[in-house]
Amino acid sequence: MQFNSSQPIGIFDSGIGGLTVAKALIETLPNENIIYFGDTAHCPWGDKSQEVIQSYALKITKMLLERNCKLILIACNSASAAAFDLLQAQFGEQVLILNVIDPVIDFLVKKYSNKNVGLIATKLTVNSKVYDTKIAERQAGITLHSQATPLLTMAIEEGFYQHDIIDNLLKIYLSDPELNNIDALVLACTHYPLVKDKIRAFYKNKVDIIDASMTVAAAAHSLLEKHNLLHVGSKILQHFYISDYTTSFADSARHFFGSDVVIEYYPLWK
Ligand code: DGL
Repeated sequence: MQFNSSQPIGIFDSGIGGLTVAKALIETLPNENIIYFGDTAHCPWGDKSQEVIQSYALKITKMLLERNCKLILIACNSASAAAFDLLQAQFGEQVLILNVIDPVIDFLVKKYSNKNVGLIATKLTVNSKVYDTKIAERQAGITLHSQATPLLTMAIEEGFYQHDIIDNLLKIYLSDPELNNIDALVLACTHYPLVKDKIRAFYKNKVDIIDASMTVAAAAHSLLEKHNLLHVGSKILQHFYISDYTTSFADSARHFFGSDVVIEYYPLWK
């Protein structure tokens, strides 16, 4: 792999969820050039099949490679579960690729061995059992309790993250007996940190809430450092592409990154 450090980091998700990872990444690595792709035309991804998500991830990765990215960050648990191995096999010689699951597994193994850990995510992520498999491989005595919470993703994508509808959904989903007696809850969908305060309030601060964003940003920092690819010059590029124009994406991106953020409709599927 021959890169120079000024090449951008490509980040992708189905929609606004990956913005939580992008924000942490920009805070951790403020000099890095960033290209974000939100596949708003197909959001949500989490109730689609593995094959479909793989086809989306392949096409988006090719688009990010055409833009010369040095690192592709899959800022989506569903795509990390469905397509990371495929992307790694296909493009791993050309570009660095990071998923949002492995850094969380490392964190859990360090902090929660022999504990009960809950996890909320899309149907695809829960059904893939990717967290169960990776946790079992590490033999840390962690007992995982997973619950699919798909309507949460949709309400958040629609921009309802402050709305009472979220409290009602949380009450239903988090009261499931599967999540009784947990020590920590992993937010295993990148949309969910947007409602972290409401989740914390539900548990009255008695359960640790694990938001992967900063952990993933730290993992990106280590990976770039290891390859001598941390950008030291100033940032010149921060560009957001979406495959369908939605006002909720535009509003959320401005909410996170300020009113002068560049958002461009990119007809990847035409
Ligand atoms: N934010 C993504 C995830 O982490 C995708 C959610 C969706 O589009 O269903 O799984």
